[in-house]
Amino acid sequence: MKHYLPLALILSFTFSAASAQDKKIEKKIDSVLKLMTLDEKIGQLNQYTGDRDATGPITNNPNKLKDIKDGKLGSMLNVRGAKETREVQEVAMQSRMKIPLIFGLDVIHGYRVTFPIPLAEAASWDLKAIENSARVAARETAASGVHWTFAPMVDIARDPRWGRVMEGAGEDTYLGSQISTARVKGFQGKGLGNLDAVMACAKHFAAYGAAIAGRDYNPVDMSEHTLWEVYLPPFKAAVDAGAATFMNSFNTLNGIPATGNAYLQRDILKGQWKYTGFVVSDWGSIGEMIAHGYAKDKSQAAELALNAGSDMDMESRSYLPNLAKLVADKKVSVALIDDAVRRILRKKFELGLFNDPYRFSNESRQEKELNSPQNRKDALLMAEKSMVLLKNENQVLPLAKNLKKIAVIGPLGKSEKDMQGFWSIQWQNDNLVSLYQGLKNKVGNQTELLYAKGCEIEGTSTAGFAEAVETAKQADVVIMAVGETLDMSGEAKSKANIHIPGVQEDLIKAIQATGKPVVVLLMAGRPLIFNWTADHVPAIMYTWWLGSEAGNAMTNVLYGDYNPAGKLPMTFPRDEGQIPLYYNYLSTGRPAKNDQDTRYRSAYLDIQNSPKFAFGYGLSYTTFDYSNLVLSKTEMGMNDKISVSFTLKNTGKYDGEEVAQLYLQDKFASVVRPVKELKDFQKVMLKAGESKTITFNIDKEKLSFYNQQLKWTAEPGDFKLMIGTASNNIKLEKDFTLK
Ligand code: GLC
Repeated sequence: MKHYLPLALILSFTFSAASAQDKKIEKKIDSVLKLMTLDEKIGQLNQYTGDRDATGPITNNPNKLKDIKDGKLGSMLNVRGAKETREVQEVAMQSRMKIPLIFGLDVIHGYRVTFPIPLAEAASWDLKAIENSARVAARETAASGVHWTFAPMVDIARDPRWGRVMEGAGEDTYLGSQISTARVKGFQGKGLGNLDAVMACAKHFAAYGAAIAGRDYNPVDMSEHTLWEVYLPPFKAAVDAGAATFMNSFNTLNGIPATGNAYLQRDILKGQWKYTGFVVSDWGSIGEMIAHGYAKDKSQAAELALNAGSDMDMESRSYLPNLAKLVADKKVSVALIDDAVRRILRKKFELGLFNDPYRFSNESRQEKELNSPQNRKDALLMAEKSMVLLKNENQVLPLAKNLKKIAVIGPLGKSEKDMQGFWSIQWQNDNLVSLYQGLKNKVGNQTELLYAKGCEIEGTSTAGFAEAVETAKQADVVIMAVGETLDMSGEAKSKANIHIPGVQEDLIKAIQATGKPVVVLLMAGRPLIFNWTADHVPAIMYTWWLGSEAGNAMTNVLYGDYNPAGKLPMTFPRDEGQIPLYYNYLSTGRPAKNDQDTRYRSAYLDIQNSPKFAFGYGLSYTTFDYSNLVLSKTEMGMNDKISVSFTLKNTGKYDGEEVAQLYLQDKFASVVRPVKELKDFQKVMLKAGESKTITFNIDKEKLSFYNQQLKWTAEPGDFKLMIGTASNNIKLEKDFTLK
């Protein structure tokens, strides 16, 4: 592990980087800092939660109000609403220094209008739409008096047993970095201080998604090479996009808890990356260093965390009671406390809260913004873009508009709340649109809708099968809605078995046996395993959890009013035993050429190497042809570039979008490289029969990687360029050389 940079150097980075910003703010911070007592400074580093579902501002601990009045708090989370935030801010204005609080909240995929879960949005590969989704969430959040969202979660995740895959952008570093940038820009809009912008928070720093065995909060152990190559780039993208804050992570990284990890927070983030925002702990992660066996008590936890660069203590109550004594005992320097306070005050100035602490708490703006028709329209379009068509044989889809009877079968057919997914902000009645309701809205006046639940999501009872089969037999088409409840993926929702829960797949078998055309809609927060369904059912759509407009979006896609174009952002395994399974793997010295090539090859005796569905895979109602690949040259110098072009043609009868993916392989290098890596993509709309010339550029940056000395570099050598419609479906390829 590298030794982190000398403190003075890091602080000078902070100041010099800050001086490039608004010098006026730095002077104001200095003037406030000068007036503060040590206790008031420590107060700024302390954050409490309000009620999880904040109805009244703070009802579960009246002392919190007293602590606010005594200047012992810098921020609260889980206080939301123009009225509620104003009430709490008024208490903060009674403190001696009258430093405004910042209010934070987990707005992960929508505030009042729920958008598809982030993993679903990632399946759209539509960066503008993803940015807009965050933009809508920011508008609604800021209109509700909340200044800060604990998003985007940018953890790369290669293990679907880990329930938090639903919260991120999947397994790929390039796609994850692009989406990190889009989400930060969406949340922060034209910049802090605008009344429709909230602070973003890149989390969880770092490598939380690599928890051993996919078990949440489990240790993370990896080479620094993998850390830099796979897990850090989306965080660097967030820094480059101007993310106002970072949140550290619960896990240890190579034996050191992230919260107490100076290599991550001081050397990399605040040193090499010159980051001037602040780092908040994840919930009680400072105090959790005791359970980790890294701190003997909260005082040592506070010392380790502050010295390692954790600026704000969320809910572990370690900083408030201990930092003053740690300063007196010279275990923590005032300079470091001042640096942490400076970072937090900087954001409060940038948000304009010193000028007007109540500027975001405006009930009329809240009334106008929340759940607006435009916000719901945006959510509908995002949901349509997020669905992935996995199979469509015998042209079962799109559905004909003149069907007489449709049977909706399955435990999620009428579910509303499960459409919200994990990390949604619970509202009393959010007019969430179920699949059944969506169908009723669209074709209810001309098509008879039948319904049978068939079975529960969990459990072994097949008592409902007979009724479901009878219902199916009466219909022209059966639409099945199966998958997970909204809390089967998410935080602390790891699963060793990721097959479709309960007897749902048995229900699918029973319905398939009727001989009716069956469409299976899989609603889940993670990749599930459903081999029988995948092999036997003619039409399958992965709908994830699509949010408020779920049913309307699914119906529009089922009827072809929106032609699905989603591509999987994560690999779908055949079996848990294959995990971790990802597309950008290393070759090994005995690569299996295919699933049959197993003799003395890197393969299993009892299961194929290949995934059930590959990263980047997704179908359309139309078809696309790739042809005519041309490279401007097949040799390039270090400061050169190659322009790549090819023809993409819509060869089907529906207008549709295709995500053309560019993969590269560095065939020989000083550190072995993956068999392929996504390096660019373009999502292109083509009318039926239309062709377009698509171009990409290859420059040194796209050929670079971290060498053994962790230096970002490109090495001369041979490369393979691949253009594909999926990572396992390459349409065009050509070799070239870097001189
Ligand atoms: C949770 C999550 C984190 C979230 C925070 C505040 O435990 O790990 O992502 O932002 O606590 O709710």
